[in-house]
Amino acid sequence: MTILVTGGAGFIGSNFVREWIGSGRGRVVVLDRLTYAANPANLEGVIASGLCVLVRGDIADQACVASLLQKYQPEAIVHFAAESHVDRSIHGPDDFIQTNIVGTYRLLEAVRGYWSALPSSVQAAFRFLHVSTDEVYGSLAVDAPPSTELATYAPNSPYAASKAASDHLVRAWRETYGLPVLTTNCSNNYGPFQHPEKLMPLMILNALARKPLPVYGDGQNIRDWLYVGDHCEAIRRVLAQGRPGETYNIGGDSEQTNLDVVRQICAVLDELSPRADGRSYAEQITFVADRPGHDRRYAIDARKVREELGWAPAQAFSSGLRKTVGWYLEHPEWVSQVVNGEYRRWSDQQY
Ligand code: NAD
Ligand code: DAU
Repeated sequence: MTILVTGGAGFIGSNFVREWIGSGRGRVVVLDRLTYAANPANLEGVIASGLCVLVRGDIADQACVASLLQKYQPEAIVHFAAESHVDRSIHGPDDFIQTNIVGTYRLLEAVRGYWSALPSSVQAAFRFLHVSTDEVYGSLAVDAPPSTELATYAPNSPYAASKAASDHLVRAWRETYGLPVLTTNCSNNYGPFQHPEKLMPLMILNALARKPLPVYGDGQNIRDWLYVGDHCEAIRRVLAQGRPGETYNIGGDSEQTNLDVVRQICAVLDELSPRADGRSYAEQITFVADRPGHDRRYAIDARKVREELGWAPAQAFSSGLRKTVGWYLEHPEWVSQVVNGEYRRWSDQQY
């Protein structure tokens, strides 16, 4: 089976491609614009295998996507490509509108042209899987039930609004043109290859560099954490067995306040890489100004994917966190590649 993966050089996309190829599922064509968030090194081993082709290109370039589809004839598209960082969307929404909305629209149009010309037997098996986020449902009260697939859309950041718009486009291409789409809305991922602008790697790397650990506001915002490998497994199941036109919520059943997450990271680091002065990394925790429009809580009700597709997270939060901290400690060369250039300029402006 050949699949086209957009955004496959980023965090979740590269984990997905590595696992897809590692488990012998077939060939992958990665289409990635290679923005600051991408690192081709994430795909090093799999490109060497000859089963993965990395093409630098923009999902908003419809002609480029159309020619790739003609050339490689994929049986499915898994669409990860996006601008993904909420703080960046607050400072500069343009790229988010362009990639997440216009880019998804152009991609859908290129795919529709390709799909509508396929022989009917191939057409019936074709899938377009759109990877989206729990942020489209907006902020939940602390005592509210977790969001199901029927929850109202109420995005609060430019990022969340752009992803919500992309979800609506994907749905419309199903209802209007019959494109066999699937949408997944997932909670916060963590694990190897995540860009250091995001909470977990930022805290790990700042701690090791003996910098402040900047916790926004009072640190009581809640996120539902899922190990990236579990997210990838859920995507594979939805791709293989999901019903076209359906949405599947994916979550870790692991709600934590940000402050608790940071404290747990510090405790693991205290054990795996103790400070020379014997003191805890938790001393570096610093409360800073809150993120504008900061959603208080996200929580996902993942009963549909569990009951229909038999998926459940395999990785407990405590062991997943330990594995993740260990991975960053063991990959200083990956970190230094990523922490150069554009990210360096961005992070220097923040703190
Ligand atoms: P990421 O920022 O690490 O990677 C995004 C990738 O998309 C990068 O490789 C980047 O170069 C590429 N890209 C950006 N613009 C592009 C364009 N115009 N054309 C082609 N490629 C482009 O993001 P991530 O954290 O891996 O998230 C992947 C997807 O999963 C996103 O759609 C995101 O909204 C969604 N998601 C993320 C999380 C999470 O916790 N990280 C949770 C739920 C859903
Ligand atoms: O919920 C899914 C979403 O999770 C994805 O759709 C996004 O692509 C992904 O980036 C992530 O969004 P968040 O905003 O939740 O992730 P981030 O790592 O930026 O922040 C997690 C929480 O930690 C959030 O409440 C803000 C807080 N935070 C973040 C940073 C970077 C801090 O307190 N300090 C920080 O320095």
